Amino acid sequence: AIDPEFEENRDVVEQHDGHDVWGPVDEPEELGIHGTHVAVDFDICIADGACLEDCPVDVFEWVDSPDHPESEIKADPAHEDQCIDCMLCVDVCPVDAIDVDPG
Ligand code: SF4
Ligand code: F3S
Ligand code: ZN
Repeated sequence: AIDPEFEENRDVVEQHDGHDVWGPVDEPEELGIHGTHVAVDFDICIADGACLEDCPVDVFEWVDSPDHPESEIKADPAHEDQCIDCMLCVDVCPVDAIDVDPG
């Protein structure tokens, strides 16, 4: 599961589409955590898609992750600023790849 303390345990190493990427990043096998308010651990995501289907405000968009060992696409929190803290994505992700910090 994603580390709920990732902000203490990791550093921002790059930006992607307006949000932070928390390392380590070593492409293509290691992609880090995308987003901060809505954080998705790309190294855990298996592209289940429940988060994209269920998010009422369409926070997530697919991005390609060729040659990643878990999946070749990832749910990117492209619109994390629109999150309404319903926590549905956290509840439905089968591998607990998502962390949302309400407030
Ligand atoms: Fe979307 Fe709700 Fe997850 Fe926020 S907590 S990203 S609104 S499903
Ligand atoms: Fe990935 Fe979990 Fe969404 S596996 S696609 S973050 S439901
Ligand atoms: Zn991203």
